[in-house]
Amino acid sequence: TPTRPLIAGNWKMNGTDAALDELARLKTLLGEAPGLAAEVLVCPPSTLIHRAAQIAEGSDFRVGGQDCHWLASGAHTGDISAAMLLDAGASHVILGHSERRADHGETDAIVREKTKAALAGGLVPIVCVGETEAERVEGRANRVIAEQLAGSLPDESGAGPMVIAYEPVWAIGTGRTATLADIAEMHAHMRALLVERFGEAGRAARLLYGGSVKPSNAAEILAVPDVDGALVGGASLMADDFFSIVVAA
Ligand code: G3H
Repeated sequence: TPTRPLIAGNWKMNGTDAALDELARLKTLLGEAPGLAAEVLVCPPSTLIHRAAQIAEGSDFRVGGQDCHWLASGAHTGDISAAMLLDAGASHVILGHSERRADHGETDAIVREKTKAALAGGLVPIVCVGETEAERVEGRANRVIAEQLAGSLPDESGAGPMVIAYEPVWAIGTGRTATLADIAEMHAHMRALLVERFGEAGRAARLLYGGSVKPSNAAEILAVPDVDGALVGGASLMADDFFSIVVAA
């Protein structure tokens, strides 16, 4: 099992220049609390990655992207490649977030190609999976997650650090978290699938939970077996809230 938990903040489509003040504040808070258990990652919008990475220098957090293209370069207006993220100072990239799947029609096959590109480009991919509320009510959550994992992860994932985020779609931005029992069951299910396919690399994979994680519930969620961190949306926008979650890990 992974040695250190990972607390990753996903700013989504939020943040202009002024948001960098929050990052500077986070840097201060982390600097005042050496020896924290968790690794910390912040994924701002692409426009802020370069400056965010500059702020992160000499600090204990790293910076990631929220998406990348499956190709290294070319005629793809509006897209960004893994190499560009790396060049801007990113170490990680979130891939296959349910908002990308919904807003941009990203399929498991697309996410798999993007994951390959991220690995080839030297980034750590954070591959997201999650069932909808209807799928859970119909008792299909485990099967949906198994299919998403099988389809979204390339064989190459076994060669590098693996980070998977389980984000039930109905828990994202709603204030409703999955129950601790449901999180435990799903994370054990994912661990078993990853070990079956990738062996030791699957055992070492970091499994993050995402969906309405906040300072008040972070400790209990992070204490669930096979939860190796969190992917935090709304509560990552304010440095103090995000720091509270980091401390809870
Ligand atoms: O990537 C983060 C997740 O979608 C969770 O978002 O913490 O605002 O529910 P949230």
